[in-house]
Amino acid sequence: MKSIKIFAPATIANLGSGFDLLGLAIDGIGDEIIFHQTQQLDVKIIDIKGATLPYDNKNNIVGYVAEMMLNDAKANFGVEIEIIKGIKPGSGIGSSAASSVATVFGINLLLGDTFDNTQLIEYAMEGELLVSGGKFADNVAPCLLGGMVLINDYEPLAYMQMPVPENMYAVVLHPMIELKTSDARNLLPIKVAMKDAIKQAKNLGTFIAGLYTMDIDKISRGLEDRLATPYRSKLIPFFDDLMALGKELEIIGSGISGSGPSVFYLCMGKEKASDLARKLHSFYESKDTEYNIYISPVARQGVREIK
Ligand code: HSE
Repeated sequence: MKSIKIFAPATIANLGSGFDLLGLAIDGIGDEIIFHQTQQLDVKIIDIKGATLPYDNKNNIVGYVAEMMLNDAKANFGVEIEIIKGIKPGSGIGSSAASSVATVFGINLLLGDTFDNTQLIEYAMEGELLVSGGKFADNVAPCLLGGMVLINDYEPLAYMQMPVPENMYAVVLHPMIELKTSDARNLLPIKVAMKDAIKQAKNLGTFIAGLYTMDIDKISRGLEDRLATPYRSKLIPFFDDLMALGKELEIIGSGISGSGPSVFYLCMGKEKASDLARKLHSFYESKDTEYNIYISPVARQGVREIK
């Protein structure tokens, strides 16, 4: 019987105009999950560190997804699971996605590579549906595959990795307040105005064209989101100030990371990223809310086994 330890990175989903369709993986922060294969056929979470989460499989994304996969594969083993949450739930940097992806990857390893990546993303999305009330892959796909991923379709699922400028960095400011994705999704309108739909299509098209031609100006002009940000920004403390701070440094652009409360910035080069992080520190340290800042190039590697 084997024991394996899996690391799954944090992710920035939506990336402005790519609402529910685009995301990228970052380095330096993620969840770790240890799976101990057992002879008993059940799935049992035995320890959770770093967050207060339910232990029962119906309500814990890890237990829920592990049970589903082992049942579907008619596995002749079970697992005991230790969860080490590096990413705070409700942070907007793919906390549930990291746990879900670590699970699909780890269980698939124990099953001897039964499922392909598309099936793994489908399973990970079932986990997202359980905790977020929506079946989207913009966190789970980059978390699994690394880099920046565009979802081409959901029915059936299709996705592709995007070319990313060599020296592109992401900076994330995470104010330590919890914002549930399900609540942030409930704020969104069912219908949008035609002019917003056209603007969004123009922006996403421009963003993707910018990636393929490595045209930073196009990437920058394509970032603005008309579908979610106008409704969610009020949930994020100092949102307008935080966006203005980025503009002062002539970065590529900024926006809400996933469903918030984290915000992200894209810029070229580590030096610019560090300048921005310094500015964010000096802005935020006088506020009452605790916060973290992460600086990372787009992470080439997604989920992986670690020692
Ligand atoms: N696309 C999802 C949303 C991502 O914005 O609701 C959640 O992290």
